[in-house]
Amino acid sequence: MSKIPIKTSKEIERIRDAGALVAETLARSGEMCKPGVTTQEIDDFVREFTIKNGAIPACLGYKGFPKSVCTSVNEVVTHGIPGSYVLKDSDIINIDITSILNGYHADSSETFLVGSPKPNASELVAAARECLFEGIKVCSLPKARFSDIGAIISGIAEEHGFSVVRDYCGHGIGRSFHEEPLVLHYRQMLPGPKIEPGMVFTIEPMINEGTYKTKTLADKWTAITADGKLSAQWEHTIAITPHGAEILTLAR
Ligand code: MF3
Ligand code: CO
Ligand code: CO
Repeated sequence: MSKIPIKTSKEIERIRDAGALVAETLARSGEMCKPGVTTQEIDDFVREFTIKNGAIPACLGYKGFPKSVCTSVNEVVTHGIPGSYVLKDSDIINIDITSILNGYHADSSETFLVGSPKPNASELVAAARECLFEGIKVCSLPKARFSDIGAIISGIAEEHGFSVVRDYCGHGIGRSFHEEPLVLHYRQMLPGPKIEPGMVFTIEPMINEGTYKTKTLADKWTAITADGKLSAQWEHTIAITPHGAEILTLAR
């Protein structure tokens, strides 16, 4: 039996409102990603802009996370902590923003290219983006199951010779940051639960140039690739409606 929460259209509306704010915050943060900018400056912007718009940065203090946003540069897979790092030409940086507006969370991230990208980095970032959007598409198919998401994403990653991170996954979202179900981005042996109207969850594939394996730094948050090669991630919060999957983290 699945205990995946089913949301009302009113609840989904609230998440969509939070999602619009996240989308705008993310787009503006992306414009900041130029050589010479520190990840702390991005954190300052995200915190101030979120609060100015009546929302709460969900990351700040979440399980002890010290900042308002995750900034994951180059070999950092996820949960990078903003600080004194200065962005330089040809870096890639994932900015992952979660805001709480009127009690509801929305979660989205994007990987931005700093200055002029190296070809391998552009290919990785584009492939990770494709993994997200193809993962969203399968959710609209009749009789879709959660395991279909990992199957399509793994196929795309493999075509490029890239790998799919297994240590972190997507998640249900709503009044809580992380709810049922776990959304795995890699291929599974067994069929997962059915994807049904009223479910709200994230898809957030992390795609690596080399090994899928990760390790966590001494700060207990920053996850990096085990081989030091690049990692890219894209994330949206989606709702399943009677008409298919709707992206809730879009700008208005
Ligand atoms: N936004 C991340 C996710 O996609 C979670 C970040 S938790 C934090 O699930 F504590 F690191 F902020
Ligand atoms: Co996120
Ligand atoms: Co998430």
